[in-house]
Amino acid sequence: MSTGNDINILLVEDEEFDVIRVRKTLEPFADRIKIVDVVSDGNDALEMIKQKQSFFDVVIMDFNLSGGLMGEKLIQAIKEIEPSVQIIVITKMTINITDYNFAHRLLKAGAFWYCTKYPGDIEDYIYQPTDFVLSILNANEKSRIEKAWNKSNQKLIKNIEDILIQKKIIGDSQSIQYLKQEISKYSQSDVNILISGASGTGKELVAYNIHYNSSRKFENFITINCGSLPQELIESELFGYEKGSFTGADKRKPGLFEIAHNGTVFLDEITELPLSAQVKLLRVIQEGELEKIGRTDKVKVNVRIIAATNRNIEEEVKAKRFREDLYYRLNVIYIKVPDLKERKTDIPILIDHFLTFYSQNMGKDKPTINSKALDILINYSWNGNVRELKNVVQRMLFVDNSVIDEQNVLRALGVFSYENEFSDEFESFFKNNELPLSQMEKMLREKYFVFMRKNSDSDTEAAKKLGLAPSNYHRMAKELGLK
Ligand SMILES: Nc1ncnc2c1ncn2[C@@H]1O[C@H](COP(=O)(O)OP(=O)(O)OP(=O)(O)O)[C@@H](O)[C@H]1O
Ligand SMILES: [Mg+2]
Repeated sequence: MSTGNDINILLVEDEEFDVIRVRKTLEPFADRIKIVDVVSDGNDALEMIKQKQSFFDVVIMDFNLSGGLMGEKLIQAIKEIEPSVQIIVITKMTINITDYNFAHRLLKAGAFWYCTKYPGDIEDYIYQPTDFVLSILNANEKSRIEKAWNKSNQKLIKNIEDILIQKKIIGDSQSIQYLKQEISKYSQSDVNILISGASGTGKELVAYNIHYNSSRKFENFITINCGSLPQELIESELFGYEKGSFTGADKRKPGLFEIAHNGTVFLDEITELPLSAQVKLLRVIQEGELEKIGRTDKVKVNVRIIAATNRNIEEEVKAKRFREDLYYRLNVIYIKVPDLKERKTDIPILIDHFLTFYSQNMGKDKPTINSKALDILINYSWNGNVRELKNVVQRMLFVDNSVIDEQNVLRALGVFSYENEFSDEFESFFKNNELPLSQMEKMLREKYFVFMRKNSDSDTEAAKKLGLAPSNYHRMAKELGLK
């Protein structure tokens, strides 16, 4: 019975007395070392390994075999099918010879080790039984480690594939096709990249795609939004500090650049970086060195920098708010993400994508969209670009219609035409209720909440329709005095 600790062996040997010798040599260790299968031909060996995928730990093979496929060719073929299986060659060719080249050739072809056997049917054992057994134990250990390594590597690859699916760039317009080509080209290089484009066009998405297609993909991808970090914290966040370097520094803090070592740093809203931090960033790029607060010696880091901005960075340089030398260091390659209104053919594709995504998410059937409604969406100005489109599609789904029409779209866009009955109702409602905004908000909330509760089968359903987590729903209901 297999204990999980067994060493499963395939023996490839065409001489019956050699099979007996191997069996005999391994007999004392039979509780652990199991000769599971014996074949006498190279092709049969390959077939067996293919069939029993990942089953064998060690292959013991004679060097000379009848049937054509033998020696180094067989070693290579086995390793090709199953790289983690370890091969021990048994041969009489190494007896009495000091031809290390021969041994070297075996190892180069991919064998783990080799053992000598007597040339004739004259001995009961392999030439050096103890070495033979030891090499099997070692080979098994190596096989185990390689299998474990492959497994974790496969997991990592799977994770990266998942991220790339999640972060897929949707669209088929010429400019998006070109963008995708640029991404695949530049992700193979290791230079810094500057991405520009209006808000919501997909700059961060581009940065993700570059990192996870690059040779750094197994390392960290760290996003830093230079606009949202408080000015006084930026340097310590980016570059870290040593324990005791200032009052309150009670322990060492690694900076984000240190955490991203060997990976990629995505510096979003780069123009918001204060000048003092710009100097330090320049140093990281030029010297690959960090200046950590409270530390005199330098910390070496290797990071690729992708920066993004939705502002005109050249103007910032002209106005001396952004260092020119840093600008040139970041702008080795420049990628521009186009506005959504310049690639109208992507709009229906994106709508379809987000409709599928949100319907699944909300557990609804995916609605269709009528052609007038689609026309409105295609011709809308989309100042918030794809992010705005994504939000609008999500809003369109709050209504339970199997066909989305113009009214749904206008409502989701926040545009009410004045011919519209619904907006007339709003007009008269507001006229009768001229209130400060905060009171109006409270009143609308309350009315909408009551309306949703009345028109839902349960609180859970009402919460879902309102897009609220149940806990928030109950809290708000309480705040509005409805509980
Ligand atoms: N081509 C696209 N395909 C699918 N999703 C997209 C695409 N472009 C943008 N998105 C989605 O739109 C949203 C905004 O994208 P992203 O954050 O990358 O934009 P951005 O240019 O970095 O915006 P900002 O300037 O506001 O930081 C994200 O949810 C992103 O997944
Ligand atoms: Mg962004």
